Amino acid sequence: MKITISVIKADVGGYVGHSAMHPALIEKAKENLEAAKNKGQLIDFWVMNCGDDLDLIMTHKGGVGEKGIHRLAWDTFMECTQVAKKLKLYGAGQDMLSDAFSGTIKGLGPGVAEMEFEERKSEPVLIFMADKTSPGAWNLPLFKIFGDPFNTAGLVIDPHMHGGFKFRILDILEGKQVTLSCPEELYDILVFLGAPSRYVIEAIYRKSDGEIAAVPSTQKLSLIAGRYVGKDDPVLIVRAQSGFPAVGEVLEPFAFPHLVEGWMRGSHHGPLMPVPFKNATPSRFDGPPRVVAAGFQLNNGKLEGPRDMFDDPSFDRARERANDIADYLRRHGPFEPHRLPLEAMEYTTLPEVRKKLEGRFEEVK
Ligand code: F6R
Ligand code: MG
Ligand code: MG
Repeated sequence: MKITISVIKADVGGYVGHSAMHPALIEKAKENLEAAKNKGQLIDFWVMNCGDDLDLIMTHKGGVGEKGIHRLAWDTFMECTQVAKKLKLYGAGQDMLSDAFSGTIKGLGPGVAEMEFEERKSEPVLIFMADKTSPGAWNLPLFKIFGDPFNTAGLVIDPHMHGGFKFRILDILEGKQVTLSCPEELYDILVFLGAPSRYVIEAIYRKSDGEIAAVPSTQKLSLIAGRYVGKDDPVLIVRAQSGFPAVGEVLEPFAFPHLVEGWMRGSHHGPLMPVPFKNATPSRFDGPPRVVAAGFQLNNGKLEGPRDMFDDPSFDRARERANDIADYLRRHGPFEPHRLPLEAMEYTTLPEVRKKLEGRFEEVK
């Protein structure tokens, strides 16, 4: 049976500030998706949050980009915005950049990751959700999962994976894409993935049969809106086991809290900290950036789960290290490389401040 998983997310209001989610928004979203399930539009759903982002995890038979599913997510976020406004939550409706739905939720503000596949005999799926960062945050872990044999033993050992994977990479500035083959074009892939503020992974396919393996969300709010309207706080769907990387191989890269863009005012580098659901509450300097992982077994489209995958002492060291890195970076205060380079700051409120001082500059005599 062909199943579609759609993960659609938006920040429609924070509690308190940008640190977490008010339970009333989760309740409202659940109510809407429950009604859609009762009508038969959804097979199943799960609603959760990472920080101030509301994540709708939905299974259905409509395929990728299905208008009705996008509309359901859009209407749900709109109704949650109303709840957020009533409660005077912070930044109510922040990611809803348009007043009207136009057939797809893409480009309107919310983030979208979707994939369709024939459900296997057993289908473990991992959904990653991050807060206070941007889509490029997945570049390093995805490269390690699908391209690095030091991370993924299966690339060497499992004959179904030994042929490698294809990476579709998006240039978010120019709106162009390229598909490169790993391992043959490994060095070419890294030319792009090493620059995560501009190049992000759109999809990863298994080379032997073209099966979809991973899909992240790629929306960049600042480029949609032309100004800083909150970070993009991306999501990611990864299939695991039996010819895909094992669940443990998929989680392994997150034991290294690599540096990502985001954190306070979307203007700083910080470590990506893997946390259990209950700790998806970025508070210190509005961060540090966080990631949670929800594990599901699909059961004819039904979501058995979630398991809280980072709720495991084996990630304690990563969290400790992330806190050490956070201490170290914070000591830089407003200096680069803690603060992002000037090009990235163009989408923030910094240029407004700079503009005020323009008249004070004189030619060098
Ligand atoms: C980061 C984020 C926050 C805000 C910060 C200032 O993605 O959303 O760090 O940028 O709290 O928010 P304002 O400007 O709304 O006071
Ligand atoms: Mg927010
Ligand atoms: Mg957020």
